[in-house]
Amino acid sequence: MGLTMKISSKEDYSIKYSMAADNPELYWAKVAELFKWDKKWDRVSSGSLSDHNFKWFEGGKLNITNNCIDRHLKTKGDEIAVVWVPNNPSEPDVKISFRELHARVCRFANVLKSRGVAKGDRVCFYMGMVPELLVGVLACARIGAVHSVVFGGFSANSLANRIKDCEAKVLVTCDISNRGDKVIPLLDIANDALTSSATISSTIVVQVNKETKTLQENQAWLHDLEKLVTAECPYEVMDAEDPLFILYTSGSTGKPKGLVHTTAGYMVYAAHTFENVFQIESGDVHWCSADIGWITGHSYITYGPLLNGSTTVMFEGVPTWPDAGRFWEICERLKVTHFYTAPTAIRALECFGEAYVSKYDLSCLKVLGTVGEPINEQAWNWYHQVVGKSKCPIVDTWWQTETGGIMISAIAGITPSVPTFATKPLPGVCPVLMNDDGEEIETRDGEGKLCIKRPWPGMARTIFGDDDRYKDTYLRAYPGYYFTGDGAKRDQSGNYRITGRVDDVIIVSGHNIGTAEVEDAIGVHDNVVESAVVGYPHDIKGNAIKAYIIVKDSSREMQNFREEIIDVVAELLGPIAKPDAIQIVEGLPKTRSGKIMRRILRKIAAGELDGFGDTTTLLNPEIVDKIKD
Ligand code: WT7
Repeated sequence: MGLTMKISSKEDYSIKYSMAADNPELYWAKVAELFKWDKKWDRVSSGSLSDHNFKWFEGGKLNITNNCIDRHLKTKGDEIAVVWVPNNPSEPDVKISFRELHARVCRFANVLKSRGVAKGDRVCFYMGMVPELLVGVLACARIGAVHSVVFGGFSANSLANRIKDCEAKVLVTCDISNRGDKVIPLLDIANDALTSSATISSTIVVQVNKETKTLQENQAWLHDLEKLVTAECPYEVMDAEDPLFILYTSGSTGKPKGLVHTTAGYMVYAAHTFENVFQIESGDVHWCSADIGWITGHSYITYGPLLNGSTTVMFEGVPTWPDAGRFWEICERLKVTHFYTAPTAIRALECFGEAYVSKYDLSCLKVLGTVGEPINEQAWNWYHQVVGKSKCPIVDTWWQTETGGIMISAIAGITPSVPTFATKPLPGVCPVLMNDDGEEIETRDGEGKLCIKRPWPGMARTIFGDDDRYKDTYLRAYPGYYFTGDGAKRDQSGNYRITGRVDDVIIVSGHNIGTAEVEDAIGVHDNVVESAVVGYPHDIKGNAIKAYIIVKDSSREMQNFREEIIDVVAELLGPIAKPDAIQIVEGLPKTRSGKIMRRILRKIAAGELDGFGDTTTLLNPEIVDKIKD
């Protein structure tokens, strides 16, 4: 491997953790030295969580694709960088060497240039999991354009909002996307979004379906555009703090936040955490089953593995098609050594039984990872015993879109895994728990709101176009700290267990859903007066969504109404935000200042019908009993 600040033992973890805590500048300089710079930085870091002006490796100049691809050409040009596994099991895998990746990225970069994309411009990707997505984001990085990937399961409305927010100039999409036995008409959805996307000057379409379709004006097939350009494209030299990408995530209120990640800090952090947490070695095959539309796919399918010169697997399909053995069939066939997935997938596959796993030879597996939501003990044990045959360490990795990379996790095989605990912070990460008075909990064990005490290189710098919202959301709740939005417990040994969101974000199957967004979508229906959306525990999805709705005219047919509500949410936000339960109510419990008491609604949704605490402060305490009935 090219990088060497790798933690090699338990003692080494303690040494490196202390070094990063006592002298972060030195620690991060040592990590940063492992990369290729066109000009070395002047200052490792500056700014603080109080003044918000944190910068990393200021004065440094570099290009992340030089680090992901070019630097490996001499030593491993013919080794496999990416293995793409198509949805259809009878189609062959596509293996892309570092040399081929270089040519493909350069060619794609030239296509972007030919469509008028220049340094600093935003390019939106709305695609399935095809190689062109990974190649396309790297092509942006090559020329200094900022990529904004929108998950292919989002609706036209969500896509249009994200395009508009970041004023994207070019859209890259696919004609269709294959997911299991479903075909998603991505181009049709994109075309819908384009009717209200004034900033897009051209659309590049990747052809997935062999049957040719006609494109609209200002749209061209990628394969046609690629014929017009060469496969040579020198990289653009970027400043350390130049934006690399924008990625949207849902918040408690308002529209999704476009988090901005910058070049050098993100690069150093994604690469370093990848190497350390997974303990990657030469020849390993890393498969992260996430979609590149999420941060997990940015950091641990794309950038982290490639920066380390590792082989990364990219899968187009779904875990349960053609049957529930698909993940394990792929692991056996590609000799996957590191497998990284979400608890929701583990729980779903567990339901199909062990036979789908035991059919395959999984002796290739060395490390198993989870991400995205808390993992319950049963799923942890199943993953550990049935998939890992009790020999693979499990890394339960806690982090966020905002953090750029893993923050709290075991180091595979080096620091102990503890079921349901993310365990210990990585070097350079200083987590604290806050009590209700906004003070740090000093005792070894405790429970509170999870904050981070110090900036780290991978943290998002701002929300695109709304710096004040960034400060409000992350820095003002606990001045001097970064607030994660999560609650956590700490045990006597200093292990952290994430208990879940403490704000109005619901994690459904590992995806962030903002309650306000769902409520806004429900409010579009003409028979809705007001609604309140909460999460409640769900065996597979972790959380499910319940909507309490006050209707205008209750004499209307309610079965249709429920379906219409589900449809309107799917249409405006996408299928992942659909409510699982809908209850029509006469009123919502509100405080005297008019705030909905979600705490009570959450309890009722979870089937807990007492222990609501003090309800006398409610404007309408009588409503609680009515909702319970
Ligand atoms: C939220 C961030 C990190 C990439 C995928 C999600 C929850 C994430 C864990 C974990 C418990 C977790 C948190 C966090 N979360 N990982 N290992 N254990 N909870 O990124 O969409 O930005 O969501 O996911 O609640 O705040 P995201």
